[in-house]
Amino acid sequence: MKKKLIAGNWKMNGSLAANEALVNAIAQGMGQAACDVAVAVPAPYLAQVAGLVAGTPVALAAQDVSMQEVGAYTGEVSGAMLKEFGVRYVLVGHSERRQYHAETDAVVAAKAQRALATGITPIVCVGETLAERDAGETEAVVKRQLAAVIHLNGHCISEVVVAYEPVWAIGTGRTASPEQAQQVHAVLRAQLAAASEHADRIRLLYGGSMNAANAAQLLAQPDIDGGLVGGASLKAQDFLQIIAAAQ
Ligand code: G3P
Repeated sequence: MKKKLIAGNWKMNGSLAANEALVNAIAQGMGQAACDVAVAVPAPYLAQVAGLVAGTPVALAAQDVSMQEVGAYTGEVSGAMLKEFGVRYVLVGHSERRQYHAETDAVVAAKAQRALATGITPIVCVGETLAERDAGETEAVVKRQLAAVIHLNGHCISEVVVAYEPVWAIGTGRTASPEQAQQVHAVLRAQLAAASEHADRIRLLYGGSMNAANAAQLLAQPDIDGGLVGGASLKAQDFLQIIAAAQ
């Protein structure tokens, strides 16, 4: 049976003191959670949070990885470096990276490939903007974004986690309805099924203003296998309620 995955994306938030309080509260409060749990922390805090999650069920995640292996790439962080700190998952292709750092589908695919090559599970994010949704392009956009990572060299798509994050729902308090989210997840699942006999195993997360109040309904949808949570992952009580909703 596939366990759900609840991953917190802290984005560019945190401090040594805040991280310690948050991770300790999550680890102590989650008990025997039925789902997998991860926190994606800013790169400078990986070492600190690796220490905090040691011996707990909370997995460490990074927010980005270089598509390069090693060398003269100022400011980049390699997969091998992440691996040394016990990173299990890395976000790839988050819409904020696509938007502010001009990451193309090809870059996203190269990063996913690097993550897999270093033994880290990429959480590949896809999602349409409001303009694209209004233009009726949602399906075409998410299919194009998923197609870019569906045949990575030497790897099966079942090694990847996919997150559907409609850009218009990120940080806006405007969530996709469970039906809207399920509709897109079903499209992604069908695309995965056409590419892999293991499509059922692939975890499809929903992200975009998921919170303690709406998580249960979203997570009850047949093709929603977890959540990628931004703002609500910074508040231990909210994040714990989302974890509890992921049965
Ligand atoms: O990656 C998570 C994300 O983009 C959603 O953010 O704050 O809307 O939950 P938020």
